[in-house]
Amino acid sequence: MEKLIDLISEQVSAAFEAAGYDPALGRVSVSARPDLCEYQCNGAMPAAKQYHKAPIVIAEDVVARLRKNPAFLTVEAVKPGFINLRLAPETVSDYVNQMASAEKFGLQEEAEKKTVVIDYGGANVAKPLHVGHIRPAIIGEAVKRIERYFGNRVIGDVHLGDWGLQMGLIIEGIRAKNPDLPYFDPDHQGEYPAEPPFTISELEQIYPAASARSKEDPEFSARAHEATLKLQQGDPGYMAIWRHVMNVSVADLKKNYGNLNVEFDLWKGESDAEPYIADMVRYLKDGGYAVESQGALVVEVQEPEDKKEVPPCIILKSDGATLYATTDLATLVQREQDYHPDKVLYVVDKRQALHFEQVFRTAKKSKIIRPETKLQFLGFGTMNGKDGKPFKTRDGGVMRLEYLISEITDTVKARILENNIISGDAVDEIAGIIAVAALKYGDLSNLATKDYAFDMDRFSAFEGNTGPYILYTIVRIKSILSKYAEQTGMSADGLSILPPETALEKDLMLQISRFQDNLALAYRDTQPNVVCAYIYELSGAVNRFYHDTRILSEADPAKQAGYIALIHLACRVLETCIDLLGFSAPEKM
Ligand code: ARG
Repeated sequence: MEKLIDLISEQVSAAFEAAGYDPALGRVSVSARPDLCEYQCNGAMPAAKQYHKAPIVIAEDVVARLRKNPAFLTVEAVKPGFINLRLAPETVSDYVNQMASAEKFGLQEEAEKKTVVIDYGGANVAKPLHVGHIRPAIIGEAVKRIERYFGNRVIGDVHLGDWGLQMGLIIEGIRAKNPDLPYFDPDHQGEYPAEPPFTISELEQIYPAASARSKEDPEFSARAHEATLKLQQGDPGYMAIWRHVMNVSVADLKKNYGNLNVEFDLWKGESDAEPYIADMVRYLKDGGYAVESQGALVVEVQEPEDKKEVPPCIILKSDGATLYATTDLATLVQREQDYHPDKVLYVVDKRQALHFEQVFRTAKKSKIIRPETKLQFLGFGTMNGKDGKPFKTRDGGVMRLEYLISEITDTVKARILENNIISGDAVDEIAGIIAVAALKYGDLSNLATKDYAFDMDRFSAFEGNTGPYILYTIVRIKSILSKYAEQTGMSADGLSILPPETALEKDLMLQISRFQDNLALAYRDTQPNVVCAYIYELSGAVNRFYHDTRILSEADPAKQAGYIALIHLACRVLETCIDLLGFSAPEKM
């Protein structure tokens, strides 16, 4: 379906043309003064310059041609030359009725479907998921769902950090505790043990201990670097440890991401780039893209128009070791081979902007990817505590994601118990659902690129611009729908929305009609926060309508059916939007 605003613009443009003016001047916008009108057109102002007439004269010319148009309730020319429009009630109800029966509420999908790889999550194996991993998971998941909603073929890849120095540190950490394990015996024959030599909680201690030790003990640090290199060269014992680490970690990561409704299509990691590295390095050298510099192999990416220095992209260190940029480039080689993507989108901490600038420039310059492939970096800001400093536990440690989720679940649970609506086992389940909404909405409602302050009390409040408030609106509508079904034996499906009789009813319809406009913006600009702002507005319109209207005690069955159809559509739109944001609503709350 066309957007309502475009349909209105077409009418106004036709009126400009009929009055002898350029139809392009007929573009309308949502009114900046909702007390005066619903839509406005400011085209008479630029027209005044073009046609050497007073803007109000032009506005009146146009208005004269719109007055008889049944799509409008009122059309006014206002000094200095605004055209103020109110839509006929039928225009609005017809539009939302069409939305109700259309697929995806009439949203126009991408005309040319694209293949999009989204690289998000980015957890590092063997390190517990901490608060720094929450944003890439939440934002990436929402962006992925929005891209997919527009009809694209979207592949979400977690791109685990599983090939760098942390693996060498873990290997040396394990050796320090237990040097007699077969993995360290160069003469070991046959299979290695099937059981991992650690549990997830042991593993989570090994890494920080080894990392701390490497900072104080240069010999240990050197051994960890060496172990990393040996692993990357395929040492069988180290590879066996690596597989254990992967199995134990990935199972734990899947559980943690699952709790957040975050699902990846691919569980690839930096290690998967390894088989592509040797050929890629040769290609970069042979093509003359990579040059030697102080023993290292680098690609120069500085451009004459750069205002700042952009250092060369290092492909191999002087000892031959690969780096973060090497695996990212080789991963692009692999993605190009496997998927031939139109776009690769990275949802990563904005402090890595320079790294991605270097990688993108290298990939383009060396034609690792096609010139038309879009490489996009969505760099997100830091989640801070209320004090504006990076979020920490009470004793100043790094906050683990699990603890954060359980803290917010407890806060929500206390609120539910206060409300006294739910009891028994359902409380925990529902608290879990609301907590995810609180956390995700709290994050997504901010512009991704900005830092923001995590505020448990505010995010979990049932009123205000919060996830729980949106859920509450949905739950309220569902409860009315089920009471209606009990009263009348009728379901809301198939009922028609009637032309609005009150301002609040009309406003709710207008809000619903803007679904596509907002989704298109969120999609175009990769900004899930636009969807949050939209559902907050829409929820406000639902609740104002609800307080203003006796729905269940309405005596006229036709009118009542119209109300039910309207809130039912609002509910479907809200549920679609929260699904795109990656959370869901409980049955009650
Ligand atoms: N593991 C990385 C980190 O924790 C993030 C990975 C982002 N993705 C990428 N292709 N580099 O910083």
